Amino acid sequence: MRPSRPEVEIVEAPAQDETGSPGRKRKVFVRTYGCQMNVYDSDRMTDVLAPEGFQATEDLEDADLVILNTCHIREKAAEKVYSELGRIRKVKEERARQGKDMMVGVAGCVAQAEGEEIARRAPIVDLVIGPQSYHRLPGLLAKAGAGEKVVETEFDIDAKFEHLSEQAAAPVKKRPPAAFLTVQEGCDKFCTFCVVPYTRGAEVSRSVEQIVTEAERMAASGVREITLLGQNVNAWHGEGADGKAWGLGRLLRRLAEIDGLDRLRYTTSHPRDMDDDLIAAHRDLTSLMPYLHLPVQSGSDRILKAMNRRHTREDYFRLIDRIREAAPDIALSGDFIVGFPGETDRDFEDTMDLIRRVEYGSAFSFKYSSRPGTPGAAMDDQVPEDIKSARLAALQDLVSAQQKAFNASRLGMTCDVLLERKGRNPGQLAGKSPWLQAVQLDAPENLIGSIQAVEIIEIGANSLFGRLIERQDESGSTRPGAIKEAAFDA
Ligand code: SAH
Ligand code: SF4
Ligand code: F3S
Repeated sequence: MRPSRPEVEIVEAPAQDETGSPGRKRKVFVRTYGCQMNVYDSDRMTDVLAPEGFQATEDLEDADLVILNTCHIREKAAEKVYSELGRIRKVKEERARQGKDMMVGVAGCVAQAEGEEIARRAPIVDLVIGPQSYHRLPGLLAKAGAGEKVVETEFDIDAKFEHLSEQAAAPVKKRPPAAFLTVQEGCDKFCTFCVVPYTRGAEVSRSVEQIVTEAERMAASGVREITLLGQNVNAWHGEGADGKAWGLGRLLRRLAEIDGLDRLRYTTSHPRDMDDDLIAAHRDLTSLMPYLHLPVQSGSDRILKAMNRRHTREDYFRLIDRIREAAPDIALSGDFIVGFPGETDRDFEDTMDLIRRVEYGSAFSFKYSSRPGTPGAAMDDQVPEDIKSARLAALQDLVSAQQKAFNASRLGMTCDVLLERKGRNPGQLAGKSPWLQAVQLDAPENLIGSIQAVEIIEIGANSLFGRLIERQDESGSTRPGAIKEAAFDA
């Protein structure tokens, strides 16, 4: 089975509320590629455009403004942008025949990495805007509207964070029950395969106050579960009111005190930044969900070194032991790259061995993709494509078997499910288990946004099927300890 995260994740912008703007109503279509941080940023872009009179649309033909929020992590992801721009060109031409304008913007990590090159390759692009300039969109759009080709790729993360906090203080509007909150951006680790330090810049943490204020606003808007986001979220070290730097464990303890916020998650973590306090938070906080995405990339010490991951496989095993000691029911997830330059059969076998020993609940895996400007691109011994494909298939078979076994172990168990939206079939709702598995069940629509006790009665290929075991009120409630007891009853 392929990993459940596609090579390129596409998430449409959600519909916006009425903006009440005095200006002409215009429509914006946002398409999001890449990681959750882009999903969060896309929502913030539609937020910043709302007072300008822009309403979100899911219909490209109907859009006055199109924004592609792009990802540069692998070649395929980056190239997808150009094929999408080809499609948009045709729509733009058709709209021009009808006397209607369409402005096109490229945002995100391809914008940051390629800048002016994008407008050269795709002349229909009016605006290129890097991930740290979204708060300046209205002014930049005005410039582009006046006929100027705008390319804005400055790193000004503090201004972005300040703006996010101002946005968060805007009047409360209803939000979905599960939402993202960016706490940290950028990366200082420079793994030799990775573009993120170049596209997102140096690591910067938001302050405790900014995060707590935004989380409180989110809880007041109906959010029950927050996933804290960062390229290296556990390297977060924001300043507290006392002027001292806090770690992520302490932040999670503070967020757990917020009324109505029943579930906390965080992603993505680096093994080197899993400190004792964060591990202890998994032991102590019932609202911190028993799921951890902790990428290791490879199980070979030689390759880990060449990747500049700066830890060994034994370090990783010791870390997993400590985490499992603190939270025995935790579902572990990871990322793997196969075919890094110089990877031999023996190295690959070390990775397979690591997976067998750790036993993941799920994992994402990728063929190494050589990225311009990274040290990996200049390394000798690039691995041929057919070998990468064979290794990826073998690794995915193994992970898939582990995922099936993990899912099957939930059969008959009762766990809390946050009901997030309508399900696949009429009368069904869809939600998430504590272990981040999708769960489908028959339940009335007024329970969306509540947390319910659900018995897992069937295991499907991509989701679990459940049954409400006791109807709670619409607000739902997390009963302290319920999750952990349930996990061991089964
Ligand atoms: N900060 C996270 C990863 C962010 S990128 C960490 O350190 O683990 C998300 C995933 O994309 C990575 O974990 C890696 O598995 C994959 N990835 C990054 N660069 C890649 C490349 N050049 N080729 C293939 N996969 C890559
Ligand atoms: Fe990329 Fe490594 Fe930073 Fe993760 S830690 S974002 S893989 S450079
Ligand atoms: Fe992609 Fe940029 Fe995220 S490269 S994975 S969108 S940080």
